[in-house]
Amino acid sequence: MKITIVAGSNQKLATSTKLGQYIQHLIQQEGHQVKLIDLYQSPLPFYSPDDAHGGHEALETYKHALHEAEGIVLATPEYHSGISGVLKNALDHISQDYFHNKAVLSVSSAGGAIAVSSLTQLQTIVRNLHGINCPEWLSIGGDQRKSFQADVAHSDIHPDLDKRVRRVVSSFLDLTKQLSVNS
Ligand SMILES: Cc1cc2nc3c(=O)[nH]c(=O)nc-3n(C[C@H](O)[C@H](O)[C@H](O)COP(=O)(O)O)c2cc1C
Repeated sequence: MKITIVAGSNQKLATSTKLGQYIQHLIQQEGHQVKLIDLYQSPLPFYSPDDAHGGHEALETYKHALHEAEGIVLATPEYHSGISGVLKNALDHISQDYFHNKAVLSVSSAGGAIAVSSLTQLQTIVRNLHGINCPEWLSIGGDQRKSFQADVAHSDIHPDLDKRVRRVVSSFLDLTKQLSVNS
């Protein structure tokens, strides 16, 4: 299957991006094709209804990756009880054609214990884009983020957290497969 991950932090060493990279690694291990769009590395222009930004390379790459994906992972930091501005801007660039009937997993990183507000907001946006929210989501908060600092190897991720990430990724892949078969 083809999976696209959108990493929505505007920080070079973001923990949500590292979590996205780990999810990419796990999904690739299962034999699937995974593209990761890092909005810090490949910034998108501000969305404007007056300007389609035709020919903008990063925007074309992002749209193509979402269009061809059978399943989508959205990763965000929790900012002021919501999603990041760069991820919201990226989602404003696309329409229901890119998400319709596709499985979508939302993941978030927060300074506090849990990132419920940004995850709830993401699932609301996904519903509006006619994507199918994965029943599970992933939140890393507070000290859990230490497992996803830039210098931490995959093998050093806390075993309890690793177990949770693997379980959620497996459930996301199951849903993606079911929806792909039915489409
Ligand atoms: C502008 C801003 C707003 C934030 N708001 C919240 C918040 O409402 N709740 C929270 O738990 N953490 C908040 N944080 C902390 C971030 O969620 C936390 O540092 C997170 O790990 C950043 O994710 P990243 O490493 O993927 O960039 C905020 C941080 C910034 C810079």
